[in-house]
Amino acid sequence: MRSLRTTALSAVAATAVTASMLAGTGSPAVAAPSPDLSTTNVTAHLQQLQSIATANGGNRATGRPGYKASLDWVKAKLDAAGYTTQVQTFSTSSGTSYNLVADWPGGDPEHVVMTGAHLDSVSSGPGINDNGTGSAAVLEAALAWASSGNTSRNHLRFAWWGAEEQGLLGSNHYMRNLPTADKDRIDLYMNYDMVGSPNPGYFVYDDNAVGNFARDAMTAYYTSKGIPWEYIDVQGRSDHASFRTYGIATTGMYSGGETTKTTAQAQKWGGTAGRAFDPCYHRSCDTISNVDTTALGRNLDMIGHMVWLYADKDFGTTTPPTTPPTGSNLLANPGFESGATSWTGTSGPITSNSGRPARTGTWKAWLGGNGSTSSENIAQAVTIPATATAASLSYWIRTDTAESGSTAYDTLRVQVVSGGTATTLKTFSNVGTNATYTQFSHSLLAYKGKTVTVRFLMNEDSSLQTSFVLDDTAVTTS
Ligand code: PHE
Ligand code: ZN
Ligand code: ZN
Repeated sequence: MRSLRTTALSAVAATAVTASMLAGTGSPAVAAPSPDLSTTNVTAHLQQLQSIATANGGNRATGRPGYKASLDWVKAKLDAAGYTTQVQTFSTSSGTSYNLVADWPGGDPEHVVMTGAHLDSVSSGPGINDNGTGSAAVLEAALAWASSGNTSRNHLRFAWWGAEEQGLLGSNHYMRNLPTADKDRIDLYMNYDMVGSPNPGYFVYDDNAVGNFARDAMTAYYTSKGIPWEYIDVQGRSDHASFRTYGIATTGMYSGGETTKTTAQAQKWGGTAGRAFDPCYHRSCDTISNVDTTALGRNLDMIGHMVWLYADKDFGTTTPPTTPPTGSNLLANPGFESGATSWTGTSGPITSNSGRPARTGTWKAWLGGNGSTSSENIAQAVTIPATATAASLSYWIRTDTAESGSTAYDTLRVQVVSGGTATTLKTFSNVGTNATYTQFSHSLLAYKGKTVTVRFLMNEDSSLQTSFVLDDTAVTTS
């Protein structure tokens, strides 16, 4: 069975093939093949990305030449290795951006295992940890797979996303434009965004909508290597969000950003307590010196393990249901604690401004309150499973106004946009305001089987403010 495997293993110095791996099913065994991928190679890829940034004004950001140069370079490596590559072009308010999607020929087209990383940096720096590390590690894993000579049970696809830093635009664009049948063929999406932080932690995504099998395989891998790990609820802060929202199993790894390492975390992981995991997060100093090579090398091997493991995982003969479990929230970043991430609309409403309190946490969506003619909105797309027997949109809202009387001058409309038509579920106005957070809920069952956009649309007239403050939104189905 799969005799090519032997060649493969010698090519990448993998551990022995085990009985459990050949069985192809069952729980993800830690003893499954673990390629020993090259830290030297991944470091060389990072140096290349640094050189590209240096040659292009110090960044690799959306709409800047360093992004396209990064994409062209990664594409050339993949093409030379035998991948079928596709460049997907889309526009953003920062300029044109591109996704790069690479398919390894072969494997069951009904069962696709995807691995991705965003390739863009912020404009303030070269983005070597964020996300040169994820980009370079996924590239090295893909190249190692190509040179291994392995054949896989499942079809392997790798992606480098554009415009993640503008709000996950590339991965959202990919999923929005992928035909439903192709979405349903994806059994797993694994995301790597920042995997070599200079003061590293090992955070495994724990925000799955369906199934924890890959999360559990990742933690089992770290445990087997004696690497302590923690879960992180990433709240849709990276490119797995649109896959997760659709109902595809996801996992991912994050070595930490702007938050501070605690004493307990420094005890188990080393590094410096009281210091950010990545003090250069989104800054000009996120250069080639801003990477912990040990963490990068460990995570590269972890990524290789996950690719090798799921290349051969038996997902069954039928496409697994991608229906999220009853009760899970299909909205990403529903309480706005990750800022505007996963929401589209006008910029500004999603804020941690203390002028109005959040219901929970510190962030909320504060629409209106300008006292001048204005229109603002926030929106998010969501797919209501075809099998839903109940579906609802809920949210908490508080309102206050400087208007008086019974004329609605300022309004907030709660809408569902489906196939270009907006339906208003509820209108709030300056009439009958209530400064105590109150929950409202509306059925979305009429939209089952459809991808719709939930939108909160505010219009204010020329004087006397009305504030509509939203928090803790949810779309749940059963
Ligand atoms: N997506 C964030 C960025 O690129 C980083 C991040 C990854 C944050 C994973 C949380 C979890 O800036
Ligand atoms: Zn970033
Ligand atoms: Zn990132």
